[in-house]
Amino acid sequence: MVGRSKVGWQTRPVADDRGRPALHQLITRLRAAGCVFAEEEAAQLLARFSAGPEREHAVRRREQGTPLEHVLGCAVFAGIRVAVDTAVFVPRRRAEPLVDLCLAAARSLPAVRVVDLGCGSGAIAAAVSAGLRRGVVAAVDHDPVAVACARRNGAEHGFEVYTGDWFDGLPASYQGRVDIAVAYLPHVPAALVDRLPADYRTAEPLATVYGGADGLDPLRAVLHQARRWLRADGVVVTMSAAGQEVGVRAVAAERGWHVRTRGGADEEDPHDMDDMDDMDDMDDMDDVFYVLSLAAP
Ligand SMILES: C[S@@+](CC[C@H](N)C(=O)[O-])C[C@H]1O[C@@H](n2cnc3c(N)ncnc32)[C@H](O)[C@@H]1O
Repeated sequence: MVGRSKVGWQTRPVADDRGRPALHQLITRLRAAGCVFAEEEAAQLLARFSAGPEREHAVRRREQGTPLEHVLGCAVFAGIRVAVDTAVFVPRRRAEPLVDLCLAAARSLPAVRVVDLGCGSGAIAAAVSAGLRRGVVAAVDHDPVAVACARRNGAEHGFEVYTGDWFDGLPASYQGRVDIAVAYLPHVPAALVDRLPADYRTAEPLATVYGGADGLDPLRAVLHQARRWLRADGVVVTMSAAGQEVGVRAVAAERGWHVRTRGGADEEDPHDMDDMDDMDDMDDMDDVFYVLSLAAP
């Protein structure tokens, strides 16, 4: 089965050169290829590519399992359209609450310095940048392909992008001056990597998802670096699968971090995401969102 699409483009009826409804033909092809949202995807492909070899090439890529976002070259994340190059992590809507939490944390501060760690395309940085009243946003990734893509998005949405290992990729001038680090970290445990949907497993580098034995090695690395880069009252905003919450709490506690969660087990209704509308399927309910701080909250 070919994975689902979450790219929000306008639907419009399209006829091919011979006057036959191209939309229906394309829906049939995508359905045959196993696309779950064939109607939506067909409309997006027709809106993006005019009839001819370019469209045919795009449809073939999709039929062969290339994620729709890579075929289209873009994705919509938290209402912002960002370029997504081939081999760059496809922004997931499940990560959108990170933007809300980040902006909520920023609200009480007069001017904010936010960094998006492991930025991929820079989707989170773009959405935070769009919602931030006053402040600067920077983004870091270790993958040069992702950095090139994020730089294009940064030029459009107003953030700088650096290459390197988490915080250590930032300019030295950021040391001790970061208010909020937002990070959708790789967190898939080694034993579960093979269970990821096949099209994304082959289309995205392993390092975008692989989190070591328990999935939490990237979190350990980020928290280890964070003391040097965050302000004393700075926070790390991140997420994990619900099944990793105990592990995340242990990793944080061992290193002296305070943990607040949204969607976590300590809440009365752990899956009541109140102001997080637009959550579109049950998968989204299986994540926990964290605000980690060294200062007591
Ligand atoms: C789960 S993806 C999230 C991408 C992006 N934030 C998003 O939401 O679309 C994790 C990202 O972390 C990056 N990454 C992995 N290891 C890294 C490291 N040591 N330093 C910086 N970035 C890293 C990957 O290249 C990937 O882009």
